[in-house]
Order: sequence, then structure tokens, then C-alpha cells
Amino acid sequence: MSNEVPAMFDLTGRVAILTGGAGLLGRQYTRTLLEAGARVVVADVNAEIACSAAQAATAEVGGEAIGWGIDVRRKAEVEKMVTDVHERYQRVDILINNAAIDPKFDAGTAARQANTFEDYPLDLWQESLDVNLTGAFLCSQSVGKIMVAQQRGAIVNICSTYGVVAPDQRLYQRPGEAEQKLFKPAPYSVTKAGIAHLTRYLAAYWGDKGIRVNTLTPGGVYNSQDDDFVTKYAARTPLGRMARQNEMNGAMLFLVSDASSYMTGSNLVVDGGWTAW
Ligand SMILES: NC(=O)c1ccc[n+]([C@@H]2O[C@H](COP(=O)([O-])OP(=O)(O)OC[C@H]3O[C@@H](n4cnc5c(N)ncnc54)[C@H](O)[C@@H]3O)[C@@H](O)[C@H]2O)c1
Repeated sequence: MSNEVPAMFDLTGRVAILTGGAGLLGRQYTRTLLEAGARVVVADVNAEIACSAAQAATAEVGGEAIGWGIDVRRKAEVEKMVTDVHERYQRVDILINNAAIDPKFDAGTAARQANTFEDYPLDLWQESLDVNLTGAFLCSQSVGKIMVAQQRGAIVNICSTYGVVAPDQRLYQRPGEAEQKLFKPAPYSVTKAGIAHLTRYLAAYWGDKGIRVNTLTPGGVYNSQDDDFVTKYAARTPLGRMARQNEMNGAMLFLVSDASSYMTGSNLVVDGGWTAW
């Protein structure tokens, strides 16, 4: 029997930089990348948390992961990380632009984040542009130089269903509320739409350099959201539920591995059918 199926997903010896690697989905991706044989750089804004996320993942599944404190908005920090990683491993095969400001309504900025569009604060709009779009731009630019020299690489930009279609704001209305107070903010949607187009731009730009660039679009992942939200989300989704936390891993592995070797400039949507109706 041929081993083509396991071989096409095998990442043995490859080096992956994963931004936002200490977050909810970043921790999932780290484990999957390690299990597939990659060496993983868990890059996140807090070095201590990034290192402990890397350690937790290797303790669980083995392999080699290192934590890296980096603010993706800062060009010098991005360039230093990429240079140091390249010096250490002599290659960078995979970049996953996963870091993002995804406003959760329980965070410190909740009241301001959930504001109406008309009163949404300019500083929060700018912050999302800086992290979600400029961060991906800077990381792609820096890693891209190495990938062009290697004539090989795979980049995955993480989008959201809200970058494909507009948020259904009815989900954020609390029961019994006369006037809606919480809204999914505009910059999240707009930056996610932007990152899907950065994918197309780079796929076309680097098509002849052996670099593939694709988008992964997750739907809403269950993370103890309140019952009212979960019920409304499920009713709005053909599969009738939110995603489990490990349900993006297969699509991510597909996009970074040779299993998707003829795919570039595309958007793989894993949303339980949310955008299908
Ligand atoms: N969780 C979901 O339901 C969902 C759905 C669709 C899309 N997504 C997308 O998936 C990705 C991961 O989402 P998540 O739920 O794991 O979010 P998360 O908030 O748990 O993780 C995001 C990570 O990015 C890091 N980060 C933020 N600003 C940074 C900066 N300036 N520099 C470096 N790191 C920074 C955070 O510290 C955090 O660890 C995001 O791009 C998000 O938009 C998530």
C-alpha cells in the first residue's frame, strides 16, 4: 500500500511561525503542527504566555516548540524574530497570520468595543487595522524574503465568516433589551475582508516563487459563550451548532502541507454552512 496519504500531510523538519499562537485557536494549531512533525514558533504579544503555551503543547504531544514575545505591529520586532528563527533553523516553511484583535465583550474595553458604529472610537478602529492587517503585512513581508530565497513556502491568513459576510447583529442583542447595546464592531469585519484580499494579492505576486498563500475562514468557535448567543448562533447555522475548538485543525494542516500543493489564492471556509444561506 502506498503511503501517499500520510506523506502529503507530513511536516517533518519544517519550521512554522504562528502568530497569536498562545490564543484559543493558536494553541490548537500548535499541537496539530507538532503532531505533523513541524518545529513551531509560538509568537504572541506576551513572551511569558507564549513560552508557557509552547511548553504546554510539547508536554502534551512532544516535538519542538519555542515561545516568542512579539508585537506584530512593530516592524523591528517582526524582523528580529524572523531573522533569529532563520538563523536558528536555516529555514522558514510556514507562516500562519493568526494574531488578531477579536473583541470579546467581557474584555476591559467591552463597553467601547461594543459601541454603535456611529460612535465607534477611532483609536480602537486603528488598533484593529494595525494588528489584524498591518501585522499580517509585516510578517508576510519579512518571512516572504526568506521564502523567496528558498523558492518555497506556505502562508495561511486567518479570516472569519465576518470577513466574508457582514455580522448578523441580532446575535448580539440581549434578551428583553429595548434598544440594542452590543454590536460586533466594524474593524473586525473590514480587516478580515482585507486579509482575504492580502491572500489573493500575495498568491498572485509570489505564484512563480513557489510560495502558496491561502485563507482559512473559521466560523464561530464555542468558548463558553452565553446560552442565548449559542442558541441564536446554532439556529443561524446549517449544521445547527458552533464549531468545536479542534475543528479548524484539519483545514489548517491541509493548507500548510503538500496536501494542498495546487492551491493558492483561495479561501477555505469552515463555518458549519453559515455563509451558505
Ligand atoms: N474563535 C473564533 O470563534 C474565531 C472565529 C473566526 C475567526 N477567528 C480568528 O481566528 C484567529 C484566532 O482567534 P482566537 O479565538 O484564538 O483569538 P484569541 O483572542 O484567543 O487569540 C488571538 C491571539 O492574538 C494575540 N495578539 C493580539 N494582538 C497581538 C499583537 N499585537 N501581536 C502579537 N499577538 C497578538 C493575542 O494575545 C491572542 O493570544 C483570529 O484571527 C480570529 O479573528 C476566530
